[in-house]
Amino acid sequence: MSWRSASRLAWLRAVPGMREKEPLASRTSFGIGGPAEFFVELGRPDATERLLDGCVQRGIPYLLLGAGTNLLIADAGVEGVVVRVVNREVHIDGTRVRAGAGLKMMRLARLAADADLTGFEFAIGVPGTVGGAVYQNAGCWGKEIRDVLVEVCGYVPGNGRRTWNPADLSLGYRTSAVREGDLKGGLVVEAVVQLQHGDGEEAKRVMARLTRERGLTQPIKAKNCGSVFKNPMGDSAGRLIQAAGLKGAREGAAVISELHGNFILNEGSAKAADVARLIKRAQAAVRRRFNVELEPEVELVGSWR
Ligand code: EPU
Repeated sequence: MSWRSASRLAWLRAVPGMREKEPLASRTSFGIGGPAEFFVELGRPDATERLLDGCVQRGIPYLLLGAGTNLLIADAGVEGVVVRVVNREVHIDGTRVRAGAGLKMMRLARLAADADLTGFEFAIGVPGTVGGAVYQNAGCWGKEIRDVLVEVCGYVPGNGRRTWNPADLSLGYRTSAVREGDLKGGLVVEAVVQLQHGDGEEAKRVMARLTRERGLTQPIKAKNCGSVFKNPMGDSAGRLIQAAGLKGAREGAAVISELHGNFILNEGSAKAADVARLIKRAQAAVRRRFNVELEPEVELVGSWR
């Protein structure tokens, strides 16, 4: 039975700021995907928490959205409510930084350097928000958020606020208990990272160099979702895709980058279905040639039938 009863729809429509049939493509780095059935942007964690509690009580599906950088949203869109988390507060206390889940990792990297804190330079290579980084233990250049994370303020709908220690989060390579474990459906409200006092100007120089270098190996100016696949143990998905001869392979307006084989680019009007076909082609070619199963890092969400 559908969750769409008159009373549930009326409840959703009464949420301040709630919109219907809201396009999502422009809210993703890929620029792809259909609309959200319901959509709301919330800066205050308590408002997000009340909404999620209400959704869980009523059996209304919800999807939490940050900067939309690691997502492939189905062309048919997302049923239920999409909640864009935009709390971006930052508190610096000595060498500890507490950041709202909606803050971009790259912005936090610059703010840390402005405060003469070091140890967060790697985050200049991490697209997406602090919440998204915790959700999938994002990283770059051999460092991940778990290397600096000391605490997360989280929310489990129906069960209230929680303080999660890194150990509670089962952080692994591009995964966590929030992405695929017992905290699935939970909300990252804030994260606290432990940095060191240092030379902020030097940190900025390092970040500028890293960004230049990333620009040489990754198509950072094009519309994409970051790495499409996780790297298989001891190898590189990009290398395998290149060796399987798939650089430049195309489905509609989606194309495998010539610069880096683990990136799919949206040339403008790509459909989610085009990207999904390219994902399958790359998996099939790498399986056939190397007997390696490529596991997507990008998360497919929404109504895929
Ligand atoms: N390579 C190829 N062909 C390609 C791409 C790469 O031969 O088309 C080779 C490179 O020459 C290199 C090796 O594969 O010898 C590794 O490539 P690279 O250094 O570009 O790193 P990666 O393993 O492809 C990982 C992360 C990136 C992160 C970079 C830099 C994953 C899936 N990817 O990429 O993370 O930015 O290291 O630290 O873990 C992301 O997760 O979205 C992401 C972009």
